Amino acid sequence: MERKAFLKTLGAGAAFALTFSCLHGCSSDSGDNEIEGEVVEEPTGIDFTIDLNSAEAVNLTSNGGFILKDLVVIVKNLEGEFVAASQICSHEGYDQVRFASPDNVGIFYCDVHGSRFAQDGTPLNSTSEGRPLKIYSTEVLADDMLRIFEA
Ligand code: FES
Repeated sequence: MERKAFLKTLGAGAAFALTFSCLHGCSSDSGDNEIEGEVVEEPTGIDFTIDLNSAEAVNLTSNGGFILKDLVVIVKNLEGEFVAASQICSHEGYDQVRFASPDNVGIFYCDVHGSRFAQDGTPLNSTSEGRPLKIYSTEVLADDMLRIFEA
């Protein structure tokens, strides 16, 4: 049976689970047990700004784009709103949280062990054992400055 036919027999949900987990690199639990990223302590007192017209913010010009800064994943979601989450996964503390939009639904994910989170930090699977992802507040200030901060 060809791969495509095999995936079709599993249904869309199972196919997504099989393929999405490796879309961004299968870094953990692979043959050599090499895990990308590091275990990092959650930073405190997050409060910084980004110039939305600067080169570092170019990925925030498109809906679904994100950047990493100061251990924060800063996102322009599919609705065009800015959201921000900790880059530190609530599961085991690896700095591998990123943003993706499978099936046109924006989520945070960590591929070290497969945690998935809604944009409000709510776990979408059991990997993080119910621990939510830290979410930061965002605010667009004058002169296209985006503030990311702890509320
Ligand atoms: S550290 Fe992110 S899923 Fe385990």
